[in-house]
Amino acid sequence: MRILSGIQPSGVPHLGNYFGAMRQHIELQDRGEAIYFLADYHSMTSIRDAGERRRFTRELALDYLAIGLDPERAILYRQSDLPEVCELSWLLSTVTSMGLLERAHSYKDKIAQGLPVHHGLFAYPVLMAADILIYNADLVPVGQDQKQHLEMTRDIAGSFNHTYGTAVFKLPDPHILEDVAVVPGVDGRKMSKSYDNTIRMFASDAELKKVVMGIVTDSTAVDAPKDVSTALFQLWALFATPTEREDLFGRAKAGGLGYGDVKKDLLKRLLAYFAPHRERRAQWAARPDDIEDVLAAGVRRARALAQPVLAAARDAAGLGPER
Ligand code: ADP
Ligand code: TRP
Repeated sequence: MRILSGIQPSGVPHLGNYFGAMRQHIELQDRGEAIYFLADYHSMTSIRDAGERRRFTRELALDYLAIGLDPERAILYRQSDLPEVCELSWLLSTVTSMGLLERAHSYKDKIAQGLPVHHGLFAYPVLMAADILIYNADLVPVGQDQKQHLEMTRDIAGSFNHTYGTAVFKLPDPHILEDVAVVPGVDGRKMSKSYDNTIRMFASDAELKKVVMGIVTDSTAVDAPKDVSTALFQLWALFATPTEREDLFGRAKAGGLGYGDVKKDLLKRLLAYFAPHRERRAQWAARPDDIEDVLAAGVRRARALAQPVLAAARDAAGLGPER
């Protein structure tokens, strides 16, 4: 089974990214041939600063290695190191209807907000389809928000196959990470970098302490029963076993448990959980050349898988000399 996912290098990852997507990527590397790439081409639709893009891309590689991506098993590479994907994107764009792209939520949202849009944003789903189809990936693990993009990928693949009367592309199965609850941010809304309410697991101890202690709670007295559906308890539960959760939630509902104690315990658990990741991150960070080696080896392996598919697509479309 071939598993593929792309991650945009768009900022420092937070607990929402980790529990919502990154952790599952690591788990899946044991279940098949996993290919993960740092989607720097895609990040061009939002980030306009070259230095920032490089920094975010390098940091994201570090983050994945830190959380346990094993470069001996999974392939990790930088999207722009495989420009073949842009060629495939062109081939696919000629079989993608305007109507399909006009229905894309991400594009429609930008228009609705009155934000300036450019062709890159409009064509984003086509590049994403190329990312996936160039490997004939079986499984694409992504969050709910990417579901529509995967449906579009299936449409685009079908359209190419139909147009040229071939079966060059396999229609990928989305693996929507639905069982993953939305991680709340420190203010109770969905954790998201755009709300500035995140807990970034690789921040310093002091910063983490400040953020955790600042999780918004109400003024319920210590003795009073607490609502365990609130952010603090839900965040705490990410680091607890089901039995621990039942126990603490029971005590919270009964009253007598103060928010401060829960925050302290959450901080302790969070630091303990990510201690090995943070150590591994520091080790990799001290060896930037090794990271480049990982990415170089990654793209070599990726290219070997991508090239035959691209060649077949070119051939089906009548590009180049007859084979
Ligand atoms: P942000 O909302 O901070 O901009 P992204 O959109 O870059 O995050 O998220 C990358 C992936 O991380 C998403 O596709 C989604 O699967 C996951 N993710 C982000 N925030 C959360 C959250 N609060 N809860 C669960 N998963 C999340
Ligand atoms: N659009 C995805 C996101 O924002 C990133 C991405 C780009 C991707 N290409 C992909 C995900 C291919 C899966 C497969 O999260």
